[in-house]
Amino acid sequence: DAASRALAAAAAAPADIAAAAAALEAGALVAFPTETVYGLGADAENPAAVAKIYAAKGRPQDHPVIVHVAPGADIDYWTSEVPDAARALVQHFWPGPLTLILKRNTHIPDAVSGGQDTVGIRCPSHPVAMQLLQAFKGGKGGVAAPSANKFGNVSPTTAQHVRDEFHDEVGQGNVIDSVLDGGSSQVGIESTILDLSRLATHGPVLLRPGHISAQQIADVIGVMPRQPDQAAPRASGTLESHYAPKAPVALLPTGDIEKTLAQLKLQGRCAALIHYTPFPGAHPNVALPAEPKGYAYGVYAALRAMDQQQVELILVEAPPTGDAWLGVNDRLRRAAFGSTGIIERFLKT
Ligand code: TXA
Ligand code: MG
Repeated sequence: DAASRALAAAAAAPADIAAAAAALEAGALVAFPTETVYGLGADAENPAAVAKIYAAKGRPQDHPVIVHVAPGADIDYWTSEVPDAARALVQHFWPGPLTLILKRNTHIPDAVSGGQDTVGIRCPSHPVAMQLLQAFKGGKGGVAAPSANKFGNVSPTTAQHVRDEFHDEVGQGNVIDSVLDGGSSQVGIESTILDLSRLATHGPVLLRPGHISAQQIADVIGVMPRQPDQAAPRASGTLESHYAPKAPVALLPTGDIEKTLAQLKLQGRCAALIHYTPFPGAHPNVALPAEPKGYAYGVYAALRAMDQQQVELILVEAPPTGDAWLGVNDRLRRAAFGSTGIIERFLKT
């Protein structure tokens, strides 16, 4: 069918996979596609290689990275306590866009876990990611990989986005050995992160909403995950300001869009619009689908496209609320953080 033809087309050449796996084994960085966003990978068991990720991204050292494993990998190798709920979720959602935080095994380098007693682990479903993980160390290794963007920026959903982020840092003998091309990431926003490391005392905690919803998780483990305490913000993806393009972002209710665009235009301001209901006069603009999966698929590319056109301000029509839109709203809220009051400032000056 069409879906399996698309997957086959997304698969990488065996020679490219072998070269990328060899580069990882030699301690180099390789960017690769996953179904969520592109990752910047290093051998999770090689602290010097993991350190290169932090340097390349400009990321603080105390931010842990997710370990990516091949389908069928032995999670007990990476972790020390695996509750039944974790095994059920692995069974149900892997390979797929769900990251589990579990107590780490003692041999996991500090660089991977940001010095914490836990490890984030996930098995991605993108065919190229699975090929790479199966080739790397014969399928027994782990690839530490954050999103392949500079710290705080919008995550990449195409190989070109990765090259745009790292320019001349890509190429054999460079910081990033190679970028595997697997087309556009189908999910478009980062994996759901579920913390099961303190299950007995804290229950399951949803650290980052994503494509796999809290309800879907509850359907498998019988308990609804709760939101994290303010006291424990560990994930960089959960920092208030993150996933942000260069231009300021303002979220606006549908009813305010036309008036605001007109006012900005009067002031000679170049504002772009990302929307899901039709606004015939808006330009530059990107129209995204009015349903959450299609919207998530396109939202990061839309933010990047606006930056490429060097607009002064990105107006975003606030998406609907509701469970299915949680992941998208979370990312947009963070992209807009720090731009509070921006429209008023633009209209005053
Ligand atoms: O979809 C994804 O998860 C993508 C692809 C490449 O797999 N990766 C990704 O990585 O989004 P990154 O590093 O950009 O975001 C991972 C988040 C970070 O916010 C990090 O702090 C959190 O996961 N994380 C990783 N290990 C953790 C741990 N042991 N405890 C708490 N948070 C952790
Ligand atoms: Mg990231």
